[in-house]
Amino acid sequence: MAKGGRHSRSSPCRRSSTCTLVLSMLLMLSLVLLMLLALGIVSLPINNASDSPNAVDLNTVLKASTDRGEESGGERKQWTEIISWEPRAFVYHNFLSKDECEYLIELAKPNMVKSTVVDSATGQSKDSRVRTSSGTFLRRGRDKIIRNIEKRIADFTFMPVEHGEGLQILHYEVGQKYEPHYDYFLDEFNTKNGGQRIATVLMYLSDVEEGGETVFPSAKGNFSAVPWWNELSECGKKGLSVKPKMGDALLFWSMKPDATLDPSSLHGGCPIIKGNKWSSTKWIRVNHYNA
Ligand SMILES: *[C@@H]1O[C@H](CO)[C@@H](O)[C@H](O)[C@H]1NC(C)=O
Repeated sequence: MAKGGRHSRSSPCRRSSTCTLVLSMLLMLSLVLLMLLALGIVSLPINNASDSPNAVDLNTVLKASTDRGEESGGERKQWTEIISWEPRAFVYHNFLSKDECEYLIELAKPNMVKSTVVDSATGQSKDSRVRTSSGTFLRRGRDKIIRNIEKRIADFTFMPVEHGEGLQILHYEVGQKYEPHYDYFLDEFNTKNGGQRIATVLMYLSDVEEGGETVFPSAKGNFSAVPWWNELSECGKKGLSVKPKMGDALLFWSMKPDATLDPSSLHGGCPIIKGNKWSSTKWIRVNHYNA
């Protein structure tokens, strides 16, 4: 009786040796279960795999979103597509209407000048063979139509209108291209106003018959698995490519969620083979940009 003194009277353990045995067996069972869980031999019934494809499993990501696109069928239907997680890139189909595309082109046409690139040593603009398009800037908020587009860009990117530079309109003719580059700056001068460029929204204002893809040569994943692989130019096959389509907007981030620069955001404009390409770019800064 003295032995049982540790237990209360109502305890079902009459004999402490049986009780200890049962308890230690339970403990052992839990340990074994924990070990199996840790080794991944058994798994808890959490919603997994099919709902959240691996971040760099392009194949799965693309398949999921293209199916959705096909379902929606009808013309001018809007939907978004995740095309890559490294870099983080998304396509918003039919983001701009045909009228908006034509409006931007007409507005820009009289002011097109040969494009330049930024010299990362001096921070100055310079002529370049890596970028052979022509272009012009449209001041931020310059009219109602542009303010409306800029508001929608803010909605799409979750970045305030005030962080955006003015829209840049670009025109590429046959043979013209933009070699792969980063949108972020490597000099001090260009980050004084607004800080680093964090994201880019590239809107296609025209269809291109052949070539002119936006290519991400450093994208992670099997980029030959994209459904439009066979339609790509040789240049387009050098990475994950997006084919220009009037009204579509491509959003990609030049910075990772941890705020460091993302080298996988390297991108270029492939040479136009047939037709010509009009596009509009919105660069978005880390801070307010005085425009
Ligand atoms: C990439 O995807 C293509 C098309 O689905 C497939 O034929 C090829 O085997 C894949 N390559 C790798 C390395 O997985």
